Amino acid sequence: MPLDEVAAIAGTADREIRRAQLIEHRRRLAQAAHRAAARVDAMDRMIEREDVVESALRVDEGAPLLTDRRMAKELHGTLDRTDFGHLGVRHEGKVRDSYVDGDVRTIVTTDRLSAFDRYVGTIPFKGQILNAIANYWFDATADIVSNHLLEVPDPNVWRVRECTPIPLEFVVRGYATGVTNTSLWVNYEAGERNIAGNLLPEGLRRNERLPAPILTPTTKFEIRDRNLSRADAIADGLVTAELFDRCADVCFRLFARGTELAARRGLILVDTKYELGLLGDEIVLIDEIHTPDSSRYWYADRYDELFQSGEEQRSLDKEPLREWLVERGFHGEGEAPVLTDEVRIATATRYILLAEELTQQPFQAAELTAADRVARALES
Ligand SMILES: Nc1ncnc2c1ncn2[C@@H]1O[C@H](COP(=O)(O)OP(=O)(O)OP(=O)(O)O)[C@@H](O)[C@H]1O
Ligand SMILES: [Mg+2]
Repeated sequence: MPLDEVAAIAGTADREIRRAQLIEHRRRLAQAAHRAAARVDAMDRMIEREDVVESALRVDEGAPLLTDRRMAKELHGTLDRTDFGHLGVRHEGKVRDSYVDGDVRTIVTTDRLSAFDRYVGTIPFKGQILNAIANYWFDATADIVSNHLLEVPDPNVWRVRECTPIPLEFVVRGYATGVTNTSLWVNYEAGERNIAGNLLPEGLRRNERLPAPILTPTTKFEIRDRNLSRADAIADGLVTAELFDRCADVCFRLFARGTELAARRGLILVDTKYELGLLGDEIVLIDEIHTPDSSRYWYADRYDELFQSGEEQRSLDKEPLREWLVERGFHGEGEAPVLTDEVRIATATRYILLAEELTQQPFQAAELTAADRVARALES
């Protein structure tokens, strides 16, 4: 990157914009480095095979960078509400619109973003990125549990097997952190040592790694989230003991895999939420997995240093957007502030970075906006 451009960024007054620009440039550099590494690999293979001319033609020049113009176009073409009634009975979730037709469900992952359980706006490319991240993890965990994915007709769309959802959200936590009422740190700090049936040691500090990951299920179909122990879930008739234990085993194995693969990318999988369903007696992983909507990720490189000094961890999720909302007085009640283009771009950039780091694939923006592309893919 030319030095005068760096100087121009350094001179930008608004911190939010400056940060977004720096992140964008880092992303481009990382992409260039990734491509260079791929070329070095290709060169090694060429040398091995002494097949220089043939292979040189096949070296991938990489995807075009995401330009400012393309981002600007997407700001006006995000995927918000969908209506494809011909695909089945419509269900609207916070982020996904589903269309159920017998044993097949078409899930459209929109660009909607929810914070504090409220819809706050759309983020360019978010749906496509969430699906790309989940696709990576479905693939990387298929040996642990089968998942619902059947086919991917569009980057924002999945066809999945319709399952009977198990009425629990399986939250697995590796660290003592969080700021909401159901979060581990808030309860621990208030003196609670039994979190959903898990006995925690004395003396934990904020953001400390737990001796071992714990499962803190919440109920899926109640308005207010509440932490449940294994005994509560069974006593309330939500699951049998046998089913609970099978689910717990799957979740801990998924979390171990997530932790291991994230570590290879220099990331910490802090906590996450799994949804499981049943097809007959078979447990199936449904909804999404290890996306920034369902999970918290931190950068590993400075974890120790920040933990020791008691500073915030650097997170690669939507936390900065939550902070932006809080700075404007929004905590989930009243009207949400209208997202500015700058914060939408900054948030999109974080999602793109995370996807590229995890999947090791450069992000590709299609010619059409998400709204136009999905309409084309799904209209009858
Ligand atoms: N294979 C499946 N079979 C049945 N239901 C599914 C399947 N996959 C996902 N679902 C359900 O589809 C809905 C997807 O919508 P979305 O992810 O927006 O959920 P939500 O419940 O509103 O929010 P959140 O996931 O953030 O709690 C969820 O209710 C999820 O349980
Ligand atoms: Mg969901």
